[in-house]
Amino acid sequence: MLKIETIDVFYGKFQALWGLSLHVEKGEIVALIGPNGAGKTTTLRTVAGLLKPARGKIFFNGTEISKLPSHRIAKLGVAMVPEGRQLFEKMTVFENLLMGAYLKNEEEIKDSLEFVYQLFPRLKERKRQLAGTLSGGEQQMLAVARALMLKPSFLMIDEMSLGLMPTLVAELFKVVEKVRDEGITVLMVEQHVESALKMANRGYLMEQGRVVMEGAGNELLESEHVKKAYLGL
Ligand SMILES: Nc1ncnc2c1ncn2[C@@H]1O[C@H](COP(=O)(O)OP(=O)(O)OP(=O)(O)O)[C@@H](O)[C@H]1O
Ligand SMILES: [Mg+2]
Repeated sequence: MLKIETIDVFYGKFQALWGLSLHVEKGEIVALIGPNGAGKTTTLRTVAGLLKPARGKIFFNGTEISKLPSHRIAKLGVAMVPEGRQLFEKMTVFENLLMGAYLKNEEEIKDSLEFVYQLFPRLKERKRQLAGTLSGGEQQMLAVARALMLKPSFLMIDEMSLGLMPTLVAELFKVVEKVRDEGITVLMVEQHVESALKMANRGYLMEQGRVVMEGAGNELLESEHVKKAYLGL
């Protein structure tokens, strides 16, 4: 579904990604892990079209998207939950969801609302509440739900569980599985390496702008490098 072919990405003169390649097959959950500054967010932002690779190509369902503007990529079915949620805190849950549906007509919006309210009944109960007054976990649910308002076929999630307590993390991981069960393919960046690799079909470990290891979730979990550097074993 997604194929990234040896991309280099720069911020000005600083090279953040070095010949990075990865792929995600339809129906998979793929985890992207690695230390701070490895280039995980940069990878997602490049797929979304917010950054352009200086070299290399990105394909989505066989179409080259690396030169397309982000709204065209969104229209093809690619959505992203950004790092730090970036909700409109002074707007209600309902209004935040509407903001996520900017490419849709009225009929589609009704349909999308029904879809996300069925996935997240708690958001339906709280639709008139200001987003900024939701709990951390609820805010993250709202960020995921807002991205789902476009009815994407491919969802990228950046650090969904950052700073949340373990029970909430577990709850959000269930949300990701629900999303996958709805037929949406997922590429997720996660600090909770162990839980992420247990749930994911496959994972990529990035360090210093490069993929240094890839494989099935359990393969990565069993590698000495991952155990030592990321699991503290
Ligand atoms: N807007 C920017 N301008 C210049 N350099 C940037 C910019 N954004 C990121 N970088 C640099 O690119 C590198 C990769 O950053 P990126 O945010 O992709 O890392 P990350 O793996 O998501 O890290 P984290 O786990 O801390 O979120 C870092 O060295 C970072 O300082
Ligand atoms: Mg990041």
